[in-house]
Amino acid sequence: MAPQTERVSEFYSPDLEVLIDEATLKRRIAELGAEITRDYAGTTPHLVCVLKGAVVFLAELIRHIDLPVTLDFIAVSSYGNATRTSGEVRIVKDLDESLAGRDVLLVEDILDTGLTLNYLMNNFLSRGVKSLRIVTLLNKPSRRLVEVPIAYKGFDIPDAFVVGFGLDYAQRYRNLPFIAVLKNISVVDPPAR
Ligand code: IMP
Repeated sequence: MAPQTERVSEFYSPDLEVLIDEATLKRRIAELGAEITRDYAGTTPHLVCVLKGAVVFLAELIRHIDLPVTLDFIAVSSYGNATRTSGEVRIVKDLDESLAGRDVLLVEDILDTGLTLNYLMNNFLSRGVKSLRIVTLLNKPSRRLVEVPIAYKGFDIPDAFVVGFGLDYAQRYRNLPFIAVLKNISVVDPPAR
C-alpha cells in the first residue's frame, strides 16, 4: 500500500467548471426514458451502447424505460488525438448479438463532429435492423461535419471539452456525477483512446 497522503478531491478540482449538475442530468434522462417508453410501446428496444463513455448514461436511462429491453455494447476507436476526432473509425469490440430484425436504439454520450455515429449508423443499417434511432446525452451542434439524425437528445452544449458522467479525458473523470467543462486542457494530447 502507498503511504497515506492528503486526499485530493477528484470532484472539486479547480480545472472543472460544472456545466450540467447531477439533478438536471437525472431529470432530463428520466424525461428521455419516458419518451422512449411511449414511442417503443409494444416492442423490445435493443439498446446498443457505445463504450466506454455512454455506459453511465445507459445505466441511468434504462431505469426509466418501462419496457422489456435488451442490451449490447460496441467499442470504437477513432484515429486522432484525445480531444479531436480524425474521422476514421475502427470497431475494437464488436456486438455480441445480431441486429437483424431488431428495433435498435444507439446510445451515445456525445455527438460532436458526427463522424463516429455516421459510421456506426451506416454499419448498423447494413446489418438488417428493423429500425434504428439515436439517443445522445449531449450534442455539440457547432462542431458538426456530418449530419446525423438524432431522435432523442439530452442537452445542446457549446463547443467546449467536457468530462464527467462517463466522458473522459485520457480515461480520467468518467466517475464525476455531473458534466463539467475541463479548463486548462493540456496542449500535449495524451494517447488516443
Ligand atoms: P464525433 O465522432 O466527433 O461525433 O465524436 C464522438 C466521440 O468523441 C464521443 O463519443 C466522445 O468519445 C468523443 N468526444 C467528443 N467531444 C468530447 C468531449 O467534449 N469530451 C469527451 N469526449 C468527447
